[in-house]
Amino acid sequence: MNTSTITLSSDPEWYRKAVFYEVMVRSFLDTNGDGYGDFRGMIDKLDYLQWLGIDAIWLPPFFQSPLRDGGYDVADYREVLPTYGSTADFDEFLQGAHDRGMRVVIDFVINHTSDQHVWFQEALKAGRGSKERARFHFYDANSDGTPPNNWISLFGGPSWTQVDDGQFYLHLFDSSQPDLNWDNPDVAEDFEKTLRFWLDLGADGFRIDVAHGLVKEDVLKDHPDPQGLSDALRLDMPMDPERRYALLPTVPYFDRQGVHEIYRKWRTIFDSYGSREVMAVAEAWVHPPVNATRYVRADELHQVFNFDLLDAAFEAEQLYGLMSAAIDLMKSVGALPTWALSNHDSPRVASRIGDLQSRALALFVLALPGSCYVFAGQELGLPDGVIPDEARQDPIYFRTKGVQKGRDGARVPLPWKGETAPFGFTSGKPWLPLQEGWKDLTVEKQESDPRSTLNLYRNALNLRAEHLVNNGEVEWIESPVHGGKSASLLAFKRGNVSVYMNLSDLPIEIEVNGKLLVVSSGIVDGRDGKVTIPPVSTIWLHH
Ligand code: BGC
Repeated sequence: MNTSTITLSSDPEWYRKAVFYEVMVRSFLDTNGDGYGDFRGMIDKLDYLQWLGIDAIWLPPFFQSPLRDGGYDVADYREVLPTYGSTADFDEFLQGAHDRGMRVVIDFVINHTSDQHVWFQEALKAGRGSKERARFHFYDANSDGTPPNNWISLFGGPSWTQVDDGQFYLHLFDSSQPDLNWDNPDVAEDFEKTLRFWLDLGADGFRIDVAHGLVKEDVLKDHPDPQGLSDALRLDMPMDPERRYALLPTVPYFDRQGVHEIYRKWRTIFDSYGSREVMAVAEAWVHPPVNATRYVRADELHQVFNFDLLDAAFEAEQLYGLMSAAIDLMKSVGALPTWALSNHDSPRVASRIGDLQSRALALFVLALPGSCYVFAGQELGLPDGVIPDEARQDPIYFRTKGVQKGRDGARVPLPWKGETAPFGFTSGKPWLPLQEGWKDLTVEKQESDPRSTLNLYRNALNLRAEHLVNNGEVEWIESPVHGGKSASLLAFKRGNVSVYMNLSDLPIEIEVNGKLLVVSSGIVDGRDGKVTIPPVSTIWLHH
């Protein structure tokens, strides 16, 4: 296999302003009819991604895995899952992306392995006290036979499972995802090899899964409120915010100081690739928010995800508070924020806040400083799929015995063309059902409609590259929101571009001169120094 030759423009800080496209291989395009997307499909659609105007692609795990948690249960970190193709297919995809000026960032799932990973299988055989078990968190039962502590899995149920000889192992997620013991030198050493393996192949960076979770403290100690704690960690669990904020800093297995030593070591590896401009982004759910800045210190990782908008209301005051806080927080350490409206773990933004609202919010966010993560299908305005219970795959559904439906709705494959499901995604049976009602959302339909969500994203990405990425800092434009009143307009200026979002159901007239660059929906009326912004819509004006 060839090591990828990189033909990308040289910009050591490319990631600070990039638009990343998150795409699960298995939901993108299936070329062999087995119902799962594959790398041949990814290769076929590289031109589509280039046409869309994204800068980088983030691939959730595509490695050898029993897919108990969508691939976040890795059985071999250096092998491509055959369902998706071969390492040579990945290599061809990577080269094709580079040739089109797009970088590729891959997922690094290092808090846990799959129970099918050779290390875990060896640990089961080797028995208590062995060096094989020392790579995980194996402990004896308490004298009354109960698990070593009372922690609850983030996916529901206990976070300990007992093996045949009576010992328990820790899993913060599914029982098929045993947590690794990062105090064991074998673990760090092996993952450094894996990092180099993918970097040598040409990967441009890593998304670090559960980046805040590797180091555990007080593994044998009970938590006073384990259920409260695990509910507090779940975005979709309603909880009194004060209670949530009181509980979060007490997590004994998240955001411990030890994780930062690991990232300092990795940074030296990334930097050793010099001109390659490798980046890493942390998935770190931390509290208080200022702790997020630690992950992006100059000698650690390059970015940290900001998840605030994944569950924010379409409401000016809240959005202003979250956005300005995220910008200020990152500025305090010389970093730029990241923005995401949807991802594979959350309900899709179009379902959560509505179609027009999600277009308006996306256009607003794409103009902010920092980088944006767009989840595949978001550019089509795709809502969540309606999944019959018998088709569900998410371990959250099974571990909570159906109380929580899980994340499958957001993961349904993309509709490409035609009038009936599965809309060109596969010639077989898709791994999750596409919705019959999506016939107007296909790429084919939207490509030819200048007012489609797809063309909105495409225009916005082009205009962002032309007018915004090198433009100035955010200057919020005075609007009622700053007076603390209920507001229907949110606006800011960056250099010679100003951005207005009308959150109300009525048109809003503002006094401003400027040339309209793009509108998220509706017709903009502008004359005599006045511009009317359509209801639930965002505009960019050039001055
Ligand atoms: C990933 C999830 C996954 C979990 C366990 C998360 O942060 O985004 O999809 O289920 O880690 O690996």
